[in-house]
Amino acid sequence: MDLYEYQARDLFESYGVPVLAGIIADTPAEARAAAEKLGGVVVVKAQVKVGGRGKAGGVKVAKTPEEAEEAAKAILGLDIKGHVVKRVMVAAGARIAEEFYFSVLLDRANRSYLSLTSYEGGMEIEQLAVERPEALARIEVNPIKGIDLAEAKKIAVAAKFPAELVDKVAPVFVKLYEVYTGEDATLVEVNPLVLTEEGDIIALDGKVSLDENAEFRHENHAALEDKAAADPLEAKAKAADLNYVKLDGEVGIIGNGAGLVMSTLDVVAYAGENHGGVKPANFLDIGGGASAEVMAAGLDVILGDAQVRSVFVNVFGGITACDAVANGIVQALATLGSAANKPLVVRLDGNNVDEGRRILAEANHPLVTLADSMDDGADKAAELAAR
Ligand SMILES: Nc1ncnc2c1ncn2[C@@H]1O[C@H](COP(=O)(O)OP(=O)(O)OP(=O)(O)O)[C@@H](O)[C@H]1O
Ligand SMILES: [Mg+2]
Repeated sequence: MDLYEYQARDLFESYGVPVLAGIIADTPAEARAAAEKLGGVVVVKAQVKVGGRGKAGGVKVAKTPEEAEEAAKAILGLDIKGHVVKRVMVAAGARIAEEFYFSVLLDRANRSYLSLTSYEGGMEIEQLAVERPEALARIEVNPIKGIDLAEAKKIAVAAKFPAELVDKVAPVFVKLYEVYTGEDATLVEVNPLVLTEEGDIIALDGKVSLDENAEFRHENHAALEDKAAADPLEAKAKAADLNYVKLDGEVGIIGNGAGLVMSTLDVVAYAGENHGGVKPANFLDIGGGASAEVMAAGLDVILGDAQVRSVFVNVFGGITACDAVANGIVQALATLGSAANKPLVVRLDGNNVDEGRRILAEANHPLVTLADSMDDGADKAAELAAR
């Protein structure tokens, strides 16, 4: 889960990372009031989860509350790379002497953590990495040892900070690393980290991604989620603990095991080419223990998608045998009652397949069609969706 800048700012503050005061505002009037409260020069900043806000006109300096109101008027509603600005942060203005870059992130390829640091900030980091790679210190962080003060100083030196600044930035790197591990983040990025005219080091912008797999350890993380921005079907699936991703097609998909579901998407997309170009409507992996409750919850989410016109259930019986899955489907349809209103194509194979097919045949539900193979099922489901 990516955080908004203001959420990252608050998190930084709670860990003792130096930040400036910031107040969020959803209307120009609120922005004006925020600027009055902060006093002095402020910076009005678009709160969107996408980079390059400054260049897109989403960051404006305001010398008076009136100017802050005007800036908010211009920024609210702005479309920045497909993200419409609904909220701004009014931040105290810094008198910047120099801009730097620091980030720490999960380096999946190397199964480790990586810190990226540069004395030359104020430039997009992707651009710096390409044009002047020598200016960017890439230092692996040992996850056991982490970044202590000595390591932080090494990083600052490697990033070519002058001696007098090394001692100033190093403690901030340590604190940012504490945010990274303390919150189970996969990314903490500060661009720019600045030195002010007054000689202070301040994190002026923050990008934080949290690892959703660690949510159970962080009661406060649920509140950081932007529920209004989430897809309602995905939110419903999440509440039911389902691995669901909404896609753009018409054929709802339920399978067990991520690999099988992925190939089912391919096979359905391929079959769809013969039926007016219908496509898979979602990814849904109901996992190993395909119980009736999980099947019902999955069907409920998929049938709630107005775009869905047919559903393809593709299950390979393993530890959970096909008869259990078949009973799950029958019970799920009974549970859903009239909410189950779209044709279902079911393909079962694997452990106890004959018994599974017998159960479905015996139930003889008017919406259910049995398929002999994956290709056959995909074709039938696509045909039903195209009708
Ligand atoms: N509080 C502030 N006071 C003074 N200047 C600021 C302040 N916040 C931002 N700036 C200036 O505006 C520039 C852009 O701000 P910021 O880094 O927050 O946005 P961005 O880089 O455009 O957005 P993103 O990081 O999402 O790509 C900064 O490099 C800095 O020079
Ligand atoms: Mg930035």
